[in-house]
Amino acid sequence: MKNYETEAAWEYHGGTKHPNGILLNRLHTYHPANRPYPYKKYRNARQIMLSLDRHPTGISALDAISDSVRQYKGIIPDVNLLSRILYFSGGITKTIKFSPPLGEVEFRAASCTGALYHIEMYIVCSDVPGLEAGVYHFDPKNMSLSVLRKGDYRRVIADATADDSSMSRYAVTLVFTDVFSRNAVKYQAREYRHAFWDCGTMLANSLAMASAHRVPYKITMGFVDYQVNQLLGLDEKKEASLALLSLGNPVQYSAGPLPLDKIAESEALEYDFDLTAINDMHESSSLTSRQEVSAWRNQADQKVLHTDKKENSLASHAGADEGIEQTIISRGSTRKFSHDSISQEQLSTILATSTKGIVSDFENVTINDVYLIANAVDGVEKGAYFYNKKESLLKVLQKGEMRHVAGHLGLDQSLPFDASVAIFFMADLQKVLQQFGNRGYRVAQMDASIMAGRMYLASYALRIGATGLTFYDDEVTDFFSPHASNKSAMFMLAIGKKARKT
Ligand SMILES: Cc1cc2nc3c(=O)[nH]c(=O)nc-3n(C[C@H](O)[C@H](O)[C@H](O)COP(=O)(O)O)c2cc1C
Repeated sequence: MKNYETEAAWEYHGGTKHPNGILLNRLHTYHPANRPYPYKKYRNARQIMLSLDRHPTGISALDAISDSVRQYKGIIPDVNLLSRILYFSGGITKTIKFSPPLGEVEFRAASCTGALYHIEMYIVCSDVPGLEAGVYHFDPKNMSLSVLRKGDYRRVIADATADDSSMSRYAVTLVFTDVFSRNAVKYQAREYRHAFWDCGTMLANSLAMASAHRVPYKITMGFVDYQVNQLLGLDEKKEASLALLSLGNPVQYSAGPLPLDKIAESEALEYDFDLTAINDMHESSSLTSRQEVSAWRNQADQKVLHTDKKENSLASHAGADEGIEQTIISRGSTRKFSHDSISQEQLSTILATSTKGIVSDFENVTINDVYLIANAVDGVEKGAYFYNKKESLLKVLQKGEMRHVAGHLGLDQSLPFDASVAIFFMADLQKVLQQFGNRGYRVAQMDASIMAGRMYLASYALRIGATGLTFYDDEVTDFFSPHASNKSAMFMLAIGKKARKT
């Protein structure tokens, strides 16, 4: 089985490291004038306009993010609830005019590397109030759905997930897909990491919204790739399904198996870019049969990696926070941090809220550990730390002023130098790949990104700024060693107070 030939993941990971990964061409340039159009269009498909109810649920952002509103109601999401989840995960939340050649940029609910918006969302559902059973593509530009297939196709999802007993329980599955070249055009082969980074930040929003509405959910990363891709009519060399998010209570299938014929076609995705390294990594981490998916899921249940299921509620919330909708609307990556401190309570609230478990097919394992550099946190000495999630404790690794280190590790940008805290999510890839094969690489990136997406939101809930960052891979490991000597950085995030505009 190709999935367990893990040299592929090592080669991809090593080859896409900053600064010298051999799969990255140092002379590659990207000009904003060449920014790909960030929306997928289905011109020949019937469109259903969605109306958006922006009313707040009244649920605090921190409660929604930490999924502590878990008394799920018996809910079949209706079209209005689906619109809200789609909008607050992938909708347009603000438009900013830049000088030419960039011009007007529509920013979305979740952060995204380079604002290239390469993640698309699809719906596969039974009949739900206001929406007939079918397969749909979400168009955030027009707040509409394109009808791709009519009928109840959830059996395809159940089959692709090897009848994960829980999958057929759900009325709706959202499928998150990646259009490779839309991001690779700037970031080259490192795009395949970005796919999970940018999908993870969206998923963090989706989970918070599902939680605010008390809708049961589950994330699934183990599925037969080609079956799901075929259901959505994806061109597998150019795009791929990354994750499934199932929502709502059980609904019986309304029909027998339906044929996978005729599907509305999208406009061509033509950005001329060599995707070989991405295609290789994707194929090597693909699962090709039900049997393989079942075996993979059993691995995930084996708890070889240490487990971490602390469900305690937070000791203290740091101050009143905003509602979840307002938090998502006000989120935006901070472009300049002041050197002002945040408080220890704020930091501990952000860390604890964001590292609660998620309901997923990899929920029994803790994949990423959290390390950080504290530049300016009242009550926490400057230095490098390991965050013990179970105990909500910071373990000192090294004390001292480290702004220069934080700035350097974040690709020599001023953002992590100026911020109060630089946070790193790190995974023991040796163990992860041994247990999950190449597919584990996808899971490790996604696990980190969902936590980071939650941290983004938790920071804004407390009116603090945040931004995702990219990093010098090996130098992050070296810096946190020996504690992190077997671990690889999966995601970096800086948190701090925004600088006032002068
Ligand atoms: C994983 C990740 C890495 C990022 N890396 C950087 C970075 O290295 N430097 C930077 O200035 N912004 C970085 N960003 C911020 C994006 O540029 C920003 O999310 C995008 O422009 C969309 O804007 P918004 O987050 O304000 O909605 C990163 C974002 C993410 C999610």
